[in-house]
Amino acid sequence: MTIPLFDPTTAIEPLREQIDAALLEVAGAGQFILGPNVGAFEREFAALVGAGEAIGVANGTEAITIALRALGVGPGDEVIVPSFSYYASAEAIPPTGAVPVFCDIDPATYVTTAEQVKAVMTPRTKAVIVVHLFGNIAPVAEIEALGLPVVEDCAQAAGSVGPDGRPGALGAIASHSFYPSKNLGAFGDGGAITTSSKELAERVRMLRFHGSRDRVSYEEVGFNSRLDEIQAAVLRVMLPQLPAWAAHRAAVAGRYEQLGLGQLVRLPRPTDGATPAWHLYVVATDEPDQLAEQLVASGVESRGYYRHPIHEQPAMSAWRPPPNALPGTDEAASRHLAIPISATISDPHLEQVVAAVGAALGK
Ligand SMILES: Cc1ncc(COP(=O)(O)O)c(C=O)c1O
Repeated sequence: MTIPLFDPTTAIEPLREQIDAALLEVAGAGQFILGPNVGAFEREFAALVGAGEAIGVANGTEAITIALRALGVGPGDEVIVPSFSYYASAEAIPPTGAVPVFCDIDPATYVTTAEQVKAVMTPRTKAVIVVHLFGNIAPVAEIEALGLPVVEDCAQAAGSVGPDGRPGALGAIASHSFYPSKNLGAFGDGGAITTSSKELAERVRMLRFHGSRDRVSYEEVGFNSRLDEIQAAVLRVMLPQLPAWAAHRAAVAGRYEQLGLGQLVRLPRPTDGATPAWHLYVVATDEPDQLAEQLVASGVESRGYYRHPIHEQPAMSAWRPPPNALPGTDEAASRHLAIPISATISDPHLEQVVAAVGAALGK
């Protein structure tokens, strides 16, 4: 039997009846766009995150673009973003008219530091996208102390907790993804924006609905980007489980450590005081692809996600930094490997993973 890299289905099996009932209710009510479930989910999600408001949008990519637009980012501006992330973190910038400026990350934590942001700031920098990659928590307060508003990309950090609160409540504004494989995953695409600024929240609500506040007058070119009522209904059933699912993910990291995984490969280091709900559990080693091949033989799935970081992607060629400008990114890109984690992965499976890594490395 193969131990999968991630498992979004086992955790929701006990919720099946509740989810089915919620789906039927939406189908019966016939209100599919911005209905009562979206409103209720927005309130419940904001409360969990600890932000003043949540606004549902169509996906986590548009959540970033709309958050940037709400901050007033536009043509002529630069937005700093780490290159070691999912492509969408940077793809979301050019639709605002601004350009991405890539910053480095610390390969021990996989998140960006304030110094790394400072190194690429210019007078044209209008905002910073900070990615809480793999569920680790980036130092948002230190980065905002540089005088720039932060858009937190929380796509991979649902359920994580840090000393200053949860991702989504740490910076000016934040984006979330409910893509099905995420820690809190819908039955299709979905996303949200959180902020504690009433003014930004109002701008987001206007932008997600074609740039209109009253559906009569259209004051800006906006987006048709809403969280579907049906997805909100599913997410409302799952949301109360998120803390327990997150606790299991955090416990898995502790268990991998206890089992001696840290003697075989480098483990991801939580940032100061963070308890990450690891979305992906990403270790580092010299020959990760070779290790991955050997793990297949032991029935353990693994994957290198960002072998070619965003600045190397063809679509980003116009904004590529000079060679070797991002050494932490290059190191993480060539050495990382995600190994199995989920909200329900069992202890025997964790033991099997560690034994398989040991056998593959001859240790
Ligand atoms: C770090 C990061 N940012 C943004 C996104 C985009 O989210 P979505 O797929 O909902 O557009 C994702 C995931 O897909 C992600 O992992």
